[in-house]
Amino acid sequence: MSKMEVKTSLLDNMIGVGDMVLLEPLSEDSFIDNLKKRFDRNEIYTYIGSVVISMNPYKSLPIYTAEKVEDYRNRNFYELSPHIYALADEAYRSLRDQDKDQCILVTGESGAGKTEASKFVMSYVAAVCGKGKEVNKVKEQLLQSNPVLEAFGNAKTIRNDNSSRFGKYMDIEFDFKGDPLGGVISNYLLEKSRVVKQPRGERNFHIFYQLLSGASEDTLSKLKLDRDFRKYNYLSLDSATVNGLDDATSFRTVKNAMQIVGFMEDEVQSVLELVAAVLKLGNIEFKPESRVNGFDESQVKDKNDLKEMCELLGIEQYVLERAFSFRTVEAKMEKVSTTLNVAQAYYARDALAKNLYTRLFSWLVNRINESIKAQTKARKKVMGVLDIYGFEIFEDNSFEQFIINYCNEKLQQIFIELTLREEQEEYIREGIAWTNIEYFNNAIICDLIENNQNGILAMLDEECLRPGTVTDETFLDKLNTVCAEHQHFESRQSKNSKFLTDHSLPHNCFRIQHYAGKVLYRVEGFVDKNNDLLYRDLSQAMYKANHSLIKLLFPEGNPAKVNLKRPPTAGLQFRASVGTLMKNLQTKNPNYIRCIKPNDKKAAHIFTDSLVCHQVRYLGLMENVRVRRAGYAFRQAYEPCLERYKMLCKKTWPHWNGRAREGVEVLLTDLQVPVEEFAYGRSKIFIRNPRTLFSLEEKRRECLEDLATLIQKIYRGWKCRTQFLLLKKSQVVVAAWYRRYAQQKKYQKIRCSALVFQSFIRGWKARKILRELKYKKHCEEAVTTIAAYWHGTQARRERKRLKEESRRKHAIAVIWAFWLGLKVRREYRKFFKANAGKKIYDFTIQRILQKYFLGLKKMMPSMSPVDMSWPANPYGFLDKTHQEIRGMFHLWRCNKYRCLFTEEKKATYEEKLEASELFKDKKALYPNSVGQPFKGDYVELSKNPKYQKLKSLVEDKVLLADVVSKINRSNGKEAPRIFLLTKNNFVLADQKTGHLKASVPLPDLSSVFVSTQNDGFFALRLKEGTTSAAKGDFLLSSNRLVEIITKLHRTAAASTDRNQININITDEFLVQFKQDKVCVKFILGAPKNGNNVLCKRKNNRLLEVSVPSP
Ligand SMILES: Nc1ncnc2c1ncn2[C@@H]1O[C@H](COP(=O)(O)OP(=O)(O)OP(=O)(O)O)[C@@H](O)[C@H]1O
Ligand SMILES: [Mg+2]
Repeated sequence: MSKMEVKTSLLDNMIGVGDMVLLEPLSEDSFIDNLKKRFDRNEIYTYIGSVVISMNPYKSLPIYTAEKVEDYRNRNFYELSPHIYALADEAYRSLRDQDKDQCILVTGESGAGKTEASKFVMSYVAAVCGKGKEVNKVKEQLLQSNPVLEAFGNAKTIRNDNSSRFGKYMDIEFDFKGDPLGGVISNYLLEKSRVVKQPRGERNFHIFYQLLSGASEDTLSKLKLDRDFRKYNYLSLDSATVNGLDDATSFRTVKNAMQIVGFMEDEVQSVLELVAAVLKLGNIEFKPESRVNGFDESQVKDKNDLKEMCELLGIEQYVLERAFSFRTVEAKMEKVSTTLNVAQAYYARDALAKNLYTRLFSWLVNRINESIKAQTKARKKVMGVLDIYGFEIFEDNSFEQFIINYCNEKLQQIFIELTLREEQEEYIREGIAWTNIEYFNNAIICDLIENNQNGILAMLDEECLRPGTVTDETFLDKLNTVCAEHQHFESRQSKNSKFLTDHSLPHNCFRIQHYAGKVLYRVEGFVDKNNDLLYRDLSQAMYKANHSLIKLLFPEGNPAKVNLKRPPTAGLQFRASVGTLMKNLQTKNPNYIRCIKPNDKKAAHIFTDSLVCHQVRYLGLMENVRVRRAGYAFRQAYEPCLERYKMLCKKTWPHWNGRAREGVEVLLTDLQVPVEEFAYGRSKIFIRNPRTLFSLEEKRRECLEDLATLIQKIYRGWKCRTQFLLLKKSQVVVAAWYRRYAQQKKYQKIRCSALVFQSFIRGWKARKILRELKYKKHCEEAVTTIAAYWHGTQARRERKRLKEESRRKHAIAVIWAFWLGLKVRREYRKFFKANAGKKIYDFTIQRILQKYFLGLKKMMPSMSPVDMSWPANPYGFLDKTHQEIRGMFHLWRCNKYRCLFTEEKKATYEEKLEASELFKDKKALYPNSVGQPFKGDYVELSKNPKYQKLKSLVEDKVLLADVVSKINRSNGKEAPRIFLLTKNNFVLADQKTGHLKASVPLPDLSSVFVSTQNDGFFALRLKEGTTSAAKGDFLLSSNRLVEIITKLHRTAAASTDRNQININITDEFLVQFKQDKVCVKFILGAPKNGNNVLCKRKNNRLLEVSVPSP
């Protein structure tokens, strides 16, 4: 069965009664008895209508688990057994669904469990509201603000180990969906006196102990602190450790929480530095030092702590030291400096410590607010949670308790306003019959305290502002005169003689009968605490600090902003902030959690009747129940009521056209709600019993379910139909497409099959035809083969026959020939012997020769004289003839060739022939000259202007002109010379200038010497005794040696006197140089000389010519 279907009720398995409204008989005893009964069974929550009474169990109960959260989630308030979660759920849903801002007022005395209760409410709301990364971060920050504020604002007191020493109101802001957006925390009056002094059995704020126990050694040394609590005057030692509190772990939790909330590393460090500074401040002690004017001036005793504190906060030591010894009073532009005595110095020190701490605390709250501030400007729904310090009665009550109790008084007032008075007044307003219930209205006490004319706070302010000597006593005197008549004010000196002998009321005290009991206040310190003054020198010293946070905390220390106006007193400030708070609460829908403390011992299982009875009384719970029982549990304006339930009646559903009230009447009549269960007010309908409301709600829920089902039905129907139509349409399209596709496929398949089929048939047919053709071909082939074979056989037979026949014929012919031969021979034998043999021989020879010559004629070689080919001789006996004919042919051919020559060419060839005769096989240079034509003129004298003169000197026609080298006789070096040959002489001239060097008539030339080698050296020997011979022989060299010598030889031979020049070819010859004869010797040179012919004069008699070996 699902959870929604479980029909449970508050009445199920009830221990006592879960709702005090159901208590029977209703009396104080039965009320307390019911609480006790439930407390004993760990049922710590009980309702009075919508108010939750919470008993502090002083032990942890398994009723705050995630399962429990789920159990209470979205459940009706009275559906399950009473729980704080039911209230939280109701408030949250009302905020989310009905858009009503909520406030949760947690009241009760110190240690009753307010802080815990408010935390449970917050954690429940966090658990049931939306989720998501951002939302979770906001939730986490909101929740984690608690440990931070508790560390700095809570302390162990006699009544509570974790007593809130400040008031806290937190607005949690939600968006339209109910997801948290952020929050705003307001803090009220931190009990700062605790910083410097704690009552016996109590201790300072947690953070001091947590820091010393939990900080690492490193952190402590940075903060110049010692782990030992005993070293610090401001820490009370008797209850420094609290059972069940692990300060070290808490320190880590706090640091972690600060980090989650969004504190920066350096911010945390600054905060800890300030905490350390407060501790250090407490250790500064003073000693009196006499001054000349007879007054004592305070001096710091041991400056070490002062120094360390100044170092921590970045304050110049002398500035602070001076601020502890002097006080500057400024009035009307005048500054007067007075010394402080030791007591005043201590007062200043403590004031500084208290101020430092409270301002730090307020800064922390602001810093947290900055972090948890909602990031949107959109409209927000707000749930306020008020956890303010509980009503306190100590042995020694001072200004703080007075303020705290005043605050509680105001809260009680608002409770009365909203639950009791407001309720009764509403009945009257609405004209509902009503039996008046008596209850105590504490407005009178509030008035005693806060009245602007004669209220205690106004008196105190007046006293503080009054010129002249103002002491706590003068203040008390004032109270005694002004408030003496007030029935809730008691004082020994008041005119009311009743207290004159009351020894429980000391002279320096006054007593107020609060709604929660009488509290005795000692006036000592009231004036000071209300003034809340810090010497300006100190705030200025703080402002000068080189510490950003400290500077921020003491803005009034800024010398540029000296404000001579007194700051508002603490009482005034508090009254104003409480006033604002009350106004704020009145705009919201209140939800009450009334916390009750079962015993004074902080112990589980102990239920002290008297203590509980006292709380029940002053909390006005009995009256609360009575009002609840007498009146109507629920009321609502007609319009929203009709709007909410109109679906329960056919007449009002869906629209009611008449007035809302009539509609509600019709509705309730139709639903047959018993008449005693409701009453019609002027603007509202009143429902007496919650049960009636629940049954209406239940019916509404069922009806809504039906309506939802109907809507769902129609919607589903519409959706299904739309879906169906869509599907149908789609189906048609799909079907069409599918059919097309299927037909396509089918067609393709059939086509494929037909093709296959066709191909098979065609194949089969083709094969059949092929087979037939093959068969036919085979047959034809067979026939052909047979025919071929047959023809072959026939042919072979025929050939054999013909062969046989031709053989026979041949044989016959041979035989016949033989026979004829034989016959002829026999017949001609007688003629043959005489001349037939010779004739036959001649004839045969003739025939052969004829055949030979005819053959030769056909095979004749070409006419080229160099063609050496000649047909082979077919007849051995003609060998000689054959060679002779060859020779003859060659000569004839050469003759033919020569006949084609011109005269010029003939001469050239003659020259060549002569050269061949002269040098062939004699000189190695000769073969090179064979291929070179003998041009004769290599210089072209006529074209070169340089040689014009030379040309004129030479009368005859130049037969040869060439550049030759003349060998120097002394060293063998060569010099170029032009060598000219004419018909009668040869000439040597300078090559460059053309100057004639020598001209020798050819008849003077006797012989020429050349070597056998591949060189161009030649010596021209002149006939002895001639004029030319006077200069000696010429030793010349030229590459065209063969041409030169040949021409020389020919020219000489052709001359008129047929001069014959001897050509000597030898490798060693003598040359006549003037008188000497020098031997020119040719040797084969070493290969290193390369291709050059080297000529060297070895000695007087030897000129060596080294010729490269070929
Ligand atoms: N529901 C609870 N379950 C278990 N323990 C609780 C519960 N409520 C309160 N306590 C115990 O009681 C102690 C005091 O509660 P809490 O601090 O909430 O009191 P308070 O009303 O806020 O007091 P004060 O006015 O001094 O701040 C808690 O520290 C816790 O030990
Ligand atoms: Mg508290």
